[in-house]
Amino acid sequence: MILVLDDPAALARAAADELLGGARAAAAAGRVFSVALSGGTTPRALFALLADPAGPYRAALPWDALSVFWGDERCVPPDDPESNYRAAFQGLLSRVPVPPGRVHRIPADLPDPEDAARRYEATLRAELGPSASLDLVFLGIGPEGHTASLFPGSPALHEAKRLTAAVTVKAKTPRRVTLTYPALAAAKRVIFLAEGPGKADIVRRVLEAPPGEDRPASLVRSAAGDPLWLLDRAAAAGLSGRRA
Ligand code: 6PG
Repeated sequence: MILVLDDPAALARAAADELLGGARAAAAAGRVFSVALSGGTTPRALFALLADPAGPYRAALPWDALSVFWGDERCVPPDDPESNYRAAFQGLLSRVPVPPGRVHRIPADLPDPEDAARRYEATLRAELGPSASLDLVFLGIGPEGHTASLFPGSPALHEAKRLTAAVTVKAKTPRRVTLTYPALAAAKRVIFLAEGPGKADIVRRVLEAPPGEDRPASLVRSAAGDPLWLLDRAAAAGLSGRRA
């Protein structure tokens, strides 16, 4: 499903509403709601909106019902400007009362990224149970179609069993740990967030052409089937309305 929002602020509200709705339903059922945050810059407006004490979410969200994970992490220290954990901690987690034991940082700063990936998979299985089904995964998309740290040409695209992989990618911080397609396929809900004119071409190429490994985001499925795409008008500008 594709939802086009007027602007980045409306996109952030739509994403916040998805998290609020899921967390409230889980809390009402006495359950924990597990959410994997995406990296990069797109989620920062969402983090700020959720954490804003003057906004509608900070007081409304049952933060003590959340369990927080990440879709991927760069192999840098947690206080490195490139760290996805740092962006989420500074923008959100340091400003809301998620219980510290429910924040599951990917230990990607360990000396061996393979070891980090295996530890993160063990955490996923310990926290979520054998099915390792995350309730909600937020994903971004790169201009060439990568998502999380699943990049074109990566052997991780062929991982059919493990939930995580250590990868080397063509990006500023090349060593990373990422969720794999099996982890995303186990998730109850996957939501892509894309905003701005710079994403219009890749959004069109993912949503209006047959899926393929040249655009890893196009192969993402959740347990519910197709992901939900939350786009602002600029990122949706290339769409003709035909879904591949
Ligand atoms: C990462 C992200 C990555 C990101 C996209 C979009 O670690 O870089 O997980 O998959 O979501 O590259 O990044 P922007 O939001 O900065 O465009």
